[in-house]
Amino acid sequence: MVNPELIHRCVEKLTLNPQIVCLPTVDSTNDEAKRLIASGRRAELLILADTQTHGRGRYNRTWHSPEGGLYLSLTLRPILHFDSIPLHSILCACAIAKALQNMGVDEVELKWPNDVLIAERKVAGILSELISIGPDEHLIVLGIGINQNTPLNLLPEDIRYSTTSILEHLGRTTSREKLLCDLLTLIDFRLQATRSSSSFDMVLDEWRQKNATLGSKIRVDDGSMTYIGIAKEILPDGSLLVHTDDGDITLCTGDLTHLCQD
Ligand code: BTN
Repeated sequence: MVNPELIHRCVEKLTLNPQIVCLPTVDSTNDEAKRLIASGRRAELLILADTQTHGRGRYNRTWHSPEGGLYLSLTLRPILHFDSIPLHSILCACAIAKALQNMGVDEVELKWPNDVLIAERKVAGILSELISIGPDEHLIVLGIGINQNTPLNLLPEDIRYSTTSILEHLGRTTSREKLLCDLLTLIDFRLQATRSSSSFDMVLDEWRQKNATLGSKIRVDDGSMTYIGIAKEILPDGSLLVHTDDGDITLCTGDLTHLCQD
């Protein structure tokens, strides 16, 4: 289990001030965060688990959560404005990418909206959920899953070709406390910069620098339609501008695949 003492010491230096809950196993850290919020907890929370029995990804997919991975949920009040919810996930994706680069991982890239890739294979994802706690009052649950010390043979065979782990890429195990502490520090820094500039521009610029999506041929399924086109730009609200044969479209969310260029 991650050493709670080290996490407390790390968090003391941050403006984030979450109550920390470390669990050996849980169904889903996001679900645990939601239960605590439903029971009245309003403080920022950091829920950590060594394994999850029902880890969830976007589009109700399973997030396989064997021992070795980093699984956490951070709850906070949305910053700036209500429309900026998707930008919080983009902020976390940028922080994860930077944390991986700090560990010496190369070929780190971001895929819209908030996947983190190593050498074109997914290593981390974010599931953000918005919880209403009163009239015009909300909390965001930012659920982060990172395949850290995860042997690929612990993941189902059908996702192994598109998935990787830090262990797989570096060929050695790395400290979970260190990655977690670095990640929280990097998230904290970006939240502070966003608050003080009243803008997510810094985060969006960082995403543009690290992304593998813009300029690529893509297929996006937004739940009702599938679009194929060239990803042109990420817009100030985090949505994606796509050039299709039928004209330009803007997507707020979607399941995106990078396609090979003809
Ligand atoms: C995705 O890429 O589809 C998002 C994956 C998010 C997984 C994390 S693991 C911690 C938190 N708890 C969950 O059940 N899901 C998120």
